[in-house]
Amino acid sequence: MSTKINLNGQILEDASISVFDHGFLFGDSIYEVICTHNGQPCFVKEHLHRLRQSAFAISLSIPLSDEQFWQEIQRTVRESANPESYIRIVVTRGVGEIDIDPGSCTRPNVLIYVTPLKAYPQEDYEKGIHIALVSIKRNFKEALNPGIKTGNYLNNVLAKLEANQLGAKDALMLNSMGYLTECTTSNIFFIREGRIMTPSLECGILDGITRQVILRLARENGFLLEEGQWPPEEIQLAEEAFITGTLKQIMPVTLLDGRLIKDGKPGPVTIKLMSLYHDLLEKEYGQAVKGSVS
Ligand code: PDD
Repeated sequence: MSTKINLNGQILEDASISVFDHGFLFGDSIYEVICTHNGQPCFVKEHLHRLRQSAFAISLSIPLSDEQFWQEIQRTVRESANPESYIRIVVTRGVGEIDIDPGSCTRPNVLIYVTPLKAYPQEDYEKGIHIALVSIKRNFKEALNPGIKTGNYLNNVLAKLEANQLGAKDALMLNSMGYLTECTTSNIFFIREGRIMTPSLECGILDGITRQVILRLARENGFLLEEGQWPPEEIQLAEEAFITGTLKQIMPVTLLDGRLIKDGKPGPVTIKLMSLYHDLLEKEYGQAVKGSVS
């Protein structure tokens, strides 16, 4: 078991980036987080697609094809020899002058960081977690669009600090219109009168890969589903809630702002979706090693 860092194709135990890299100086970078299941990186095609969308949105050209990325990811995961891996891809603007203009940066740095995957406590999945509505607002969609997965997460860091102060495990943010958006590193879902509800992309959220999978599973399994723009009162009246993300998958939420959601236990819809998601991972990544990303 080990941590390996693939920096521009060179696999190292430890790596450094110049202090003149604009990723460091200005948060001028993009990233993705992927995890493995049975040793196999999951939803790589979807993550690389989103990485390219993020790159496009900040006018950054990625020097690797998807196939090259796939080869490098596999090589780094193999060398790290972890039972399960956390994989973080970072593409920075690269080294340049200390000037906000990225014009002086000629070569992006591509980093693939692989480390043993740390599981969330089993208790959190069994009992659910506490999240808090915080005063920090999700970034304005017309400013740094939350749909772009950049290395500039300071807004979410501030939200997380506020959640910590409130004794909650994550922060739920509203947008500037007062509508629900998402948590610091996850999307939010809640259930009202048997209907699965989640903020729409128009609210200014990351289009989560796990969110996309949950929406598909919910549709395929006949659940009533609604994406929309809702004030916080909607989730305060929810029967169930959960958050989703690559690492946590589906995490039940049983406490909101210190108040129990219904009876304070993970509800039947959440439990059913957790089991469907697990079955899908087993089906897709159970045994056979996939040969290509596409
Ligand atoms: N975070 N919303 C935000 C703001 C996120 O940072 C993430 C992912 C998600 C969920 O997206 P996905 O299902 O594609 O992981 C939603 C990753 C896990 C992270 O930054 O660690």
